[in-house]
Amino acid sequence: MNDSSPLSTVCRLPSTWDERYAAFGAEDRREPSPFVAACLPRLPRQGYALDIAAGAGRHSLALAQHGLRVDAVDRSRQGLYLAKQRAIEAGLEPGKNLCLIVADLERPWLPRRDYDVILVSFFLCRPLFPMIKAQLRPGGWLVYETLTIHQTFGPDRQPARPDFLLQPQELKDAFADFELVFYDEVNQNQRATAQLLARKVVVSEQLPVISGQ
Ligand SMILES: C[S@@+](CC[C@H](N)C(=O)[O-])C[C@H]1O[C@@H](n2cnc3c(N)ncnc32)[C@H](O)[C@@H]1O
Repeated sequence: MNDSSPLSTVCRLPSTWDERYAAFGAEDRREPSPFVAACLPRLPRQGYALDIAAGAGRHSLALAQHGLRVDAVDRSRQGLYLAKQRAIEAGLEPGKNLCLIVADLERPWLPRRDYDVILVSFFLCRPLFPMIKAQLRPGGWLVYETLTIHQTFGPDRQPARPDFLLQPQELKDAFADFELVFYDEVNQNQRATAQLLARKVVVSEQLPVISGQ
């Protein structure tokens, strides 16, 4: 499977993500998605990032190479093992600028930290939305890209669960309290996705008015 495949959030049952990552070739899904690649220059070059459902780590590595300290969370040990191998090959230091965390995000659970960047790519778990909001620091960046209900699937490949697909405008509405930097719903390279780049709003404290002398 390579990155141009439209199949990243669908299952060819009974394969699991562990089995799929075990079958990955050296070049499978190494490069960031075009949307994430386009967002990278806007993101801070220091601080902490969280890659939710990081898989084989293509975006975790890109964020770490950008300068961020990355927590990469996924349920698949095989995916994170591949991420670790690829990080070492790239000269990164797993444990230092890349922390790999095996966890089931449907519990729902996220590591506790104030993140400067949270990235979600081709994963949807709506109960995580409030946690994403809470664990981004004010001014922090959210990069989110995943499939919408406009995605079409071949007869032998169906979505693992239909509720893994976004409704039109759903992502934008879910983060309506963020400052929207970019939002689009596109159908490119056989993928129908919503793409969102947004910042958590800084709530400035109302300063008391000091009357003149
Ligand atoms: C389509 S892949 C996306 C991987 C990566 N974000 C990317 O864009 O290359 C979906 C990922 O979600 C992970 N995943 C699915 N359900 C999960 C869960 N409940 N908890 C944690 N990870 C999960 C899978 O293991 C898989 O790595």
